[in-house]
Amino acid sequence: MPEFVEIFEVGPRDGLQNEKRLIPTAEKVALVDLLSRAGFRRIEVASFVSPKWVPQMADSAEVLAGIARAPGVSYAALTPNMKGYERARAARADEVAIFGAASEGFSRANINASIEESLARFAPVAEAARADGVPVRGYISCVTDCPYDGAVAPASVARVAARLRAMGCYEISLGDTIGQGTPEAVDAMLSAVLGEVPPDMLAGHFHDTAGRALDNIEVALGRGLRVFDAAVGGLGGCPYAPGAAGNVATEAVARRLADLGHETGLSLSVIEQAAAMARAMRAPRDEGETG
Ligand code: HMG
Ligand code: MG
Repeated sequence: MPEFVEIFEVGPRDGLQNEKRLIPTAEKVALVDLLSRAGFRRIEVASFVSPKWVPQMADSAEVLAGIARAPGVSYAALTPNMKGYERARAARADEVAIFGAASEGFSRANINASIEESLARFAPVAEAARADGVPVRGYISCVTDCPYDGAVAPASVARVAARLRAMGCYEISLGDTIGQGTPEAVDAMLSAVLGEVPPDMLAGHFHDTAGRALDNIEVALGRGLRVFDAAVGGLGGCPYAPGAAGNVATEAVARRLADLGHETGLSLSVIEQAAAMARAMRAPRDEGETG
């Protein structure tokens, strides 16, 4: 029996949050509805952050209201604080994610807080979600490299991972936000994090700036991880991570996993259609850009 490896589709959030063009809600809904037919268990479709910080995600409630929810699919949203959590609940997100960083520079630039302050903000979100029976995922950005602070110590990632686990995150996604991680750095980081969190509670989230994301996924597979975040069409980046290119493309990850003999449960033809739709949503001036 081939071993199951899950791709967590983050394109409608991590992909579209970085597009210069303000994409009409109907186009986002059409992309999510197509993705819902591909076989994903989880799709990140919304982000309840400040619309002043990320105007691209301001219509998140409308997206969640407009999609046709497929049975068995969890539609996820980012929630940086209680205000975001309340908006996500009102919009009936199936699960939420708190998102911190392993480097102080990125934490400050992305969510206007030190790492410690951010964890204090996440605690009530995790508490409320537990009371409401809403699953909470945790993200850690800059697990190997930070655009502001440079190389990140594996111990810093492990420390934040332990805190997110203690808060009740059911899974912690490890983000190579700017896609600069080498396989050696990813391996060293995982070695430290696995001292705090077991592999079945971890996910890999690799941006593909330097073209190493698939190699890094293989390193993480070797360390026992079985969930990887990806975005159809390789869209995206982070507005607060200068130089960050898109997430590794879902279609590339699905093909590599199939080559390695893993089962993803996904329809490659639906994913290819969604990738074409996602690429067509990019502003023409973005073509050929790497950031
Ligand atoms: P702040 O300015 O420190 O927040 O921002 P504040 O609490 O002082 O509030 C300021 C204003 O924002 C107030 O409005 C609040 O009501 C409003 P005003 O009184 O000025 O009119 N506000 C909100 N509005 C809507 N929803 C909310 C919300 N919170 C406050 N939830 C904050 C702090 C966290 C809000 C801000 O920094 C922010 O929104 N940052 C988000 C940045 C972001 O979305 N980055 C991209 C996602 S992370 C990522 O992509 C990485 C990842 O993919 C993994 C990886 O690749 O590494 C996950
Ligand atoms: Mg990301």
